[in-house]
Amino acid sequence: MIHDKLPQIWYGADYNPDQWPEETWAEDMRLMRLAHVNVATLPVFSWALLQPAEDRYEFAWLDRILGLLADNGVYACLATSTAAQPAWLSLRFPDVLPTGWDGLKRRHGGRVNFCPSSPNYRRYSSALAEELALRYQDHPTLVAWHIANEYGNHCYCELCAEGFRQWLKERHGSLDALNEAWNNNFWSHRFYAWQEIEPPMAIGERGNSPMLLDYDRFQNQAILECYLGEYRAIKAITPEVAITTNFMSQFKPLNYAAWAPYLDVVSFDSYPRPDLPMSDVAFNHEQMRGLKDGQPFMLMEQTPSQTNWMPRNPLKRPGVMRLQSYQAVAHGADTVMFFQWRRARGGPEKMHGAIVDHVGHEHTRVFQEVQELGAELESLGDTLLDSRQEARVALLFDWENWWAIDYSSGPSADLNYIGLCKRYYHALWQANIAVDVVRPEAHLEGYDLVLAPMLYMVRPGVADHLKTYVRQGGSLLVSFLSGLVDENDMATLEGYPGELRELLGIWVEEFDPLLKEETRGVVMREPWGRLQGDYRAGVLCDLLHLEGAVARATFGESFYAGRPALTVNEYGQGKALYVAADVEDAMLRDLLLTLCDERDIAPALEVPDGVEVTQRIKEGRGYTFVLNHSGEEQTLRLPKGCRDLLSGQALEGEVRLAAHDVWILEGLPA
Ligand code: GLA
Ligand code: ZN
Repeated sequence: MIHDKLPQIWYGADYNPDQWPEETWAEDMRLMRLAHVNVATLPVFSWALLQPAEDRYEFAWLDRILGLLADNGVYACLATSTAAQPAWLSLRFPDVLPTGWDGLKRRHGGRVNFCPSSPNYRRYSSALAEELALRYQDHPTLVAWHIANEYGNHCYCELCAEGFRQWLKERHGSLDALNEAWNNNFWSHRFYAWQEIEPPMAIGERGNSPMLLDYDRFQNQAILECYLGEYRAIKAITPEVAITTNFMSQFKPLNYAAWAPYLDVVSFDSYPRPDLPMSDVAFNHEQMRGLKDGQPFMLMEQTPSQTNWMPRNPLKRPGVMRLQSYQAVAHGADTVMFFQWRRARGGPEKMHGAIVDHVGHEHTRVFQEVQELGAELESLGDTLLDSRQEARVALLFDWENWWAIDYSSGPSADLNYIGLCKRYYHALWQANIAVDVVRPEAHLEGYDLVLAPMLYMVRPGVADHLKTYVRQGGSLLVSFLSGLVDENDMATLEGYPGELRELLGIWVEEFDPLLKEETRGVVMREPWGRLQGDYRAGVLCDLLHLEGAVARATFGESFYAGRPALTVNEYGQGKALYVAADVEDAMLRDLLLTLCDERDIAPALEVPDGVEVTQRIKEGRGYTFVLNHSGEEQTLRLPKGCRDLLSGQALEGEVRLAAHDVWILEGLPA
């Protein structure tokens, strides 16, 4: 849908021409053409230049640069520049500046340094967005809108405190209801007037999880309102043009699942640490794709070479930028874009990689790699656009659940929700089995297998949703520490796992968090599929009773030796499994692959370790991505009739895939 005007994979970068003398611009155009850049994202941080004073806008320079882009066949992902307000705005309207968790009122500076409740921030940011939309609505370069940049600024000021009280009134209806929902008789927390409620802060309430959760929800909403102010202003003027704001995959302060309905297309910034497992990078892509039910997303930013903000910022090795770009496409990106076009001369990002380095010409390794990839992507035309993945496995991921687990005092500091999700994902990624990462409320009918690692918080409706899924024939795997609390982090009184108890056919009486490095044996009662023998588990072990479920494995040691560690409950047409500890990767792999075998879920292609395979499907045709992350040449066996879209070569039988190389194969069944 975003590609009407420019039906090919968008290829480009954040472009900050205003940081350079105008003489550079013509050279930028020459270099962009050379690099096959077709989209520039601008102006991302130019509010101070666009609006030098309260009553004055300066668009002439932007007119000129957009004109140049138009002359050179480069489109604009037009940014609204509202992530960093001009100093005059902060000084003239002190409500614009936020207050930190430490209770200190911030001074002007940096970026994303504004209070999301500030009426003046909201008014001036929407006004700028509207001015930009009015001025450029018919501009030939306009292909998309990019609102602000990487939102995520929680604030604790008086305005936010007041906003919080209003928000609480709407959510809870009455103080009595709020006192009840937050269990406020605990530690004398009962409130008698709304005015008594203050935001949680380092200098005040720090540990009351129901309040922390509600405050996150409120801030999420307040920040979303800032976005929506701009969104509505722009939508009214250019209803046909897609609007986005750039996400950061697992970013805790914002519940992106709650934002996604208000983005026309999801976009995100991908800066994997060099030592990050590639499955974690893949997980990020899945998660972004899952936000809008599998709709392709935009890779808005990645570095062509290095970042500047890690403790150490190694270069991407030759071929790795291309490989990671295709990995994004392989998982559903329809754009490949960078931060940034030209390396900044000064300021905190002068050490950040860019397509054009300080030396200013095209004779660099990085430019050449970018140029080659640009030519290659251009040659793909619209072939891949809007193609979809068809996963039969879903992994449930939930922001509020993440918050709640992290806010809970106990049972163990070693609980790591994101880490566990990524390990479950990794087990299937390694086998090249496609997985969608979706919210617990998502449509599940199309999946054969649903994974719910640590579904600690069960919001209203979720348990019934999962029951329906299983009853109708689905397989569901739930892990330890699930079904403990409701949306206010209040513990279930039905016996753990609360609303999931009947579905799973178990009652968890106690859980035993292990000491660091401590493990327990997990023993299969008899071999089941790929599962056999003994495994280890750490972090936490549940002591549970069977209430209809069957134990497939038991704990090997401790006073609960012999008690169930893995259970299966037949439920309706399907089955619900429970894994009662943080089992080691080998067991996760054997368990998840056994469940896949039962359902005939198999990868599109068998490949050696270190090679990733995904498939995108369009009009019944499969495009099978084969990505060699191993750092070494790999030998693969391909069936008859494969052709690599990138090289145009027919490939079959035994074929070699070079280190960091990629194929996009046609000819494999979709
Ligand atoms: C983020 C921002 C960019 C830039 C890059 C640097 O993704 O959106 O403006 O600061 O980080 O890695
Ligand atoms: Zn505030």
